[in-house]
Amino acid sequence: MSLMFTSPVLTPTIGSFTFSSRRSNYIVMSAVRSNSASTCPVLTKFQKDCDTPTPYLRNVANAIADDMRAGLAVEGGGDLDMILTYVDALPSGNEEGLFYALDLGGTNFRVRSVQLGGKKKRVIATESEQISIPQKLMIGTSEELFGFIAAKLASFVAKEKPGRFQLEEGRKREIGFTFSFPVKQTSIDSGTLIKWTKGFKVSGMEGKNVVACLNEAMEAHGLDMRVSALVNDGVGTLAGARYSDEDVMIGVILGTGTNACYVEQKHAIPKLQSKSSSGTTIINTEWGGFSKVLPQTIFDQEMDANSPNRGEHVVEFYPFFNNIYVFLFLFLQLFTVCVWMKLYEKMISGMYLGEIVRRVLLQMCETSDLFGQFVPVKLSTPFELRTEHLCKMQEDTTDDLQTVGSVLYNILEVEANLNARRRVVEVCDTVVKRGGRLAGAGIVAILEKIEEETKRMGSGKRTVVAMDGALYEKYPQYRQYMQDALVELLGDKLSHIAIKHTKDVSGLGAALLAATNSIY
Ligand code: BGC
Repeated sequence: MSLMFTSPVLTPTIGSFTFSSRRSNYIVMSAVRSNSASTCPVLTKFQKDCDTPTPYLRNVANAIADDMRAGLAVEGGGDLDMILTYVDALPSGNEEGLFYALDLGGTNFRVRSVQLGGKKKRVIATESEQISIPQKLMIGTSEELFGFIAAKLASFVAKEKPGRFQLEEGRKREIGFTFSFPVKQTSIDSGTLIKWTKGFKVSGMEGKNVVACLNEAMEAHGLDMRVSALVNDGVGTLAGARYSDEDVMIGVILGTGTNACYVEQKHAIPKLQSKSSSGTTIINTEWGGFSKVLPQTIFDQEMDANSPNRGEHVVEFYPFFNNIYVFLFLFLQLFTVCVWMKLYEKMISGMYLGEIVRRVLLQMCETSDLFGQFVPVKLSTPFELRTEHLCKMQEDTTDDLQTVGSVLYNILEVEANLNARRRVVEVCDTVVKRGGRLAGAGIVAILEKIEEETKRMGSGKRTVVAMDGALYEKYPQYRQYMQDALVELLGDKLSHIAIKHTKDVSGLGAALLAATNSIY
């Protein structure tokens, strides 16, 4: 559904939003008060550095689009990997049979079975289970991680009710494997891990075929299953959403990590070279890697310098240098900062927003009397403050900011007066506003890239962006800031765009892609 509008005002719902010409009385309740004085120099500078007025956002959107083109031209052409996914056909609705989805991408993994009944019956039955991954497996060996997954998968299949789920005779159980990390895909059912993100650091896996790792573990557990499609969660979301809406062109994840995948015309992908140049294919942008023209602050740089990927890179170099090579070492450090920073992800996704706020508060504490004369110990602990805490604090509408007070007390073990609580909320709002607005600029870049090739909006066709991820779902202020950016950058063009919250469809999408790419 899309509505024409003249003066762009959003009419959002949690499920989806389109754009309306009537003034909406929807107000995101926020603890930010207009009368809150930000007299702290650290905060004032931070707010200035994070500012993203419309012309700035326009530059960001243009720069992302330029890097998309560069990444489509040659491998490594720009900050965005623009990975070829080998998904040329999205679900049509005709898919039939029993398929599975395995989803690994965060602290939990999910396994799902889906009995598909074709155009008429659609999803006949589905069952799923979510299992949390023990912390030690996220930084252990690949055998440990995949062994754990295979064991859980085996017990899930063993519990299957034969009446509800039926595997056709002579067929193996086929899996759509959603692996939500940057992967260089080599075919629809294989790909090598480029690097871990989101706090994962399983040893010896970078450069390895992730499907082979899963296959070995399944074999060891006597599981006769095969991976028919290896997909990113953005691709899964796009495919799952497309099953019920043929205008879905983009899948965006805004959760612990972030990414966007979209339908591209093959003729617009020079790096496809010899392959057929007609039709469309899905591109996994890995937009989290974008790092140009972003409003970086010292806090972003310091967080990046201390993040697992960045830290690891420095440690790998360090032993090879002694004092006389200090200059060379520093040069290499600078080089690795330029090459490895995934700044966009670190500015817009759920894993990092709380940590940026913590770092700002720490400096405010050290340079002024934010919480009295002392610096709370917990404020010096990385990742102690999480994005969900920011959300709780921003939703506080009480006059004395009670919830803010209790979050600060429970999480950081600090008693904060009203003035301090206000300042904390201002920091949260600054970080969340920048994140939401930058995410909006990214979506605009992709919408405009699609329009450049297809002219679909110009010809009055509707274009749908499927959104998923806890940050988008659970943080109303973030959503609102993202939507504001879309309105500012797209103006009238928004009338044919719908932003849809498609919760948890990536598992369905992966199972559907397993069906589309079935070997039978
Ligand atoms: C990964 C992407 C993934 C995204 C959302 C990022 O850290 O690099 O592959 O799609 O998180 O889960």
